[in-house]
Amino acid sequence: MCGIVGYIGDRDAQPILLQSLRRLEYRGYDSCGIAVLASTIKVHKDVGRVEQLEKALPRNKGKLGIGHTRWATHGKPSKSNAHPHIDCSGKIAVVHNGVIDNFQQLRDKLTQEGHRFHSDTDSEVMPHLIESYYQGDLEQAVRRALVDVHGSYSLIVLAANHKELLVARNESPLVVGVGDGENFVASDVPALLDYTDRVIYLEDGDVGVITDDEIRLFNQAGEVRRETNVIPWTMEDAQKGGYDHFMLKEIHEQPRVIRDTLGGYLSAIEPEVDLGLESTEFEDILLLACGTSYHAGLVGRYLLEKVARIPVRVEIASEFNHSNAVLGKTWVIGITQSGETADLLGAIKKAKQMGCKTLAITNCVGSSATRIADQTFYIRAQPEIGVAATKSFIAQLIALYLLALSQAKMDIKSREGLIRELRLLPDKVQLILDGEDGISKYGKYLSTYDNAFFVARGINFPMALEGALKLKEISYIHAEAYPAGELKHGPFALLTPDTPVIAIAAGDDTYEAMLTNIKEIKARESPVIALADEADEDIDKFVDYVIRVPSVAPIFSPVINSVVLQLLAYYAAKERGCSIDMPRNLAKSVTVK
Ligand code: F6R
Repeated sequence: MCGIVGYIGDRDAQPILLQSLRRLEYRGYDSCGIAVLASTIKVHKDVGRVEQLEKALPRNKGKLGIGHTRWATHGKPSKSNAHPHIDCSGKIAVVHNGVIDNFQQLRDKLTQEGHRFHSDTDSEVMPHLIESYYQGDLEQAVRRALVDVHGSYSLIVLAANHKELLVARNESPLVVGVGDGENFVASDVPALLDYTDRVIYLEDGDVGVITDDEIRLFNQAGEVRRETNVIPWTMEDAQKGGYDHFMLKEIHEQPRVIRDTLGGYLSAIEPEVDLGLESTEFEDILLLACGTSYHAGLVGRYLLEKVARIPVRVEIASEFNHSNAVLGKTWVIGITQSGETADLLGAIKKAKQMGCKTLAITNCVGSSATRIADQTFYIRAQPEIGVAATKSFIAQLIALYLLALSQAKMDIKSREGLIRELRLLPDKVQLILDGEDGISKYGKYLSTYDNAFFVARGINFPMALEGALKLKEISYIHAEAYPAGELKHGPFALLTPDTPVIAIAAGDDTYEAMLTNIKEIKARESPVIALADEADEDIDKFVDYVIRVPSVAPIFSPVINSVVLQLLAYYAAKERGCSIDMPRNLAKSVTVK
C-alpha cells in the first residue's frame, strides 16, 4: 500500500531509486515519482508504472533521492496526486505511506498561513508542515511537525542544503538498508536486496537521521539502538525464475513451502510438533484476519474444533475493530502474510487492550504484527510478490494444522496418523502441479464467462470462498461463493446456462449432500465443473467436467483443492490478458484501514 524508497551515498541516486521502486511495485502501482537532490531538488512523477516514468526521465545527477509508488487513498491517480510532494519553497520533498487522519485541519491551518496545495492527498501537508517549522535544522523541523500529525506514516524527507535523509515511522513499515559508505531506506526488504542484505527495522515512534555513513535513530526517550538483521533470502528468491508470472512461480513453490513450514516445527523422525511457543492459558480461541488469510482462519476453525476440541470463532479483522466483542480467557490469533495489514494490527491491539494473550501467524520477519502480538509463529513461505496470496495461504493452512496438532485431544494413533498424512502433502500438491495442463483448459473455459459460482460444504466451504476471491481479483470475472446448501435460499435465482458452477465434491461426510446440491444446480442448467477425489467413480454422471484431485484424508482436502483453484484462476486471468501479478485497484500489503 504505497512503497517508499530513499538513497544516500556516493552513487547516482536515480537508477537506484528506480530499481528499488520496481521491487516495490507490488505495494501499489497507479502512479509513481522520484525526487533527486542535484543543485536543486528535481521532482518527476506521473500516473502509471515505474517503467513509464523511467522512459520519460531526464538524467538527473545527484547522490541523494527519494521515490514513491502509489496506491491511491486520498485523490485519484494523477500527476499532481503522485508523490514526492514538495513545499512552497521547493526545498523540502516528502514521500509518505499511510494515512494522516487530521490532514484537513492541518491543511486548513497551513492554507491560512499562506501555503498553497496542489493535490488532493493527505500526504501533501507533510512538506508544508515541515517547512512551517524549518529554521535551518531539518531534524528539529521534522520532529516538531510530527507532534501535530495524527495517523499512520512512514516517511522520508529530502531537503535542499542537507546531506541527510530524515525518516519516521508510525504504524507503517520502514526498513533501513545498511551499506558501506551508503545507506538505503524502503517500505520493504525486496527494495533493498539488490544492494544489501543488512537491514534495520524501525519501530513505531522512531525518527531517523540517515547520512551516507551513519544511521541515528531516536524515539521519545532519546537515541535508540536497533538490531541489524541479515536477510536470509536473496533477490533470486524474489525473481520470477523463468515463470511468466510471480503468481505461477509461487503456486509451483508450494511443495517446498509446505516442507519448510513443516520442517520448522515438526520433528523429522518423531511425530512431535514443537511450535516454540510459551504456553498460554485459554478457554477459547478467536482467529482474526482479512481476505485470503481470513479464509485460512475459517479452515483453522474446523481444524481446531475437530482435532483440539477447542471452541473457536473467526472474525474479519476490520469488523472486529468495530464490534462490541466480549472476550473472556480468549487466545487471540491474528493471521497475516505481510504482518502489516492495518485492520489486523488494529484488531490485535484491541484484543490486547481487552487483556487477551495474542499470537501472530505471519510470513514477514520483523513485521508490525510480530512487534504487537505477544508471540509469533512464522510460516516459511519466503517472499510472496504476486498480489494474490497463494503460497502464503498454503503455509498458513500448514501452520493451522500444526497448531491444531500441538493442542490435539485425540488418541495417539489417530494423531500420529494425521501427522503421517501431513508429511505426504508436498508430494500430493506436486501431483496437482504435474497435471497443470489438464487444469489450465478449465481456466480457459471459465475465462469466456462473466459470472461464476463456487460451492462446497464443510471444511471446503472456505475453499469455495478462496476460489471465488482468486478468480475475481485476478481475472475480474464476477464470482460468488456459497455453502452448497445455501443456494436454494436465494442464489438459485442467478443460475442459468451462462453461470458455470465450480463444485468441490470432497470425499468426506458432506459428499452425499453435495451430490444432491449438484443435481439441483444441474436442474437449472448451469454447467458444473467438479473437483473430486481420484477414486470417485460416481461423480462423472452428475456433472459436465471433473478435475481429479489426489486422495488425501478429508481434513487435508483444503490444501489440495486450493492449489487447483489457484491454477483455475491463473489460467482464466491469463486467457483474458489480465495483469496477473498486479491486478487493478489492489496492492499487496494493505497498510490503511
Ligand atoms: C488475496 C489477498 C488478500 C490478503 C489480505 C490480507 O489474494 O492476498 O486478500 O490476504 O489483504 O493480507 P495479509 O495476509 O498480509 O494480512
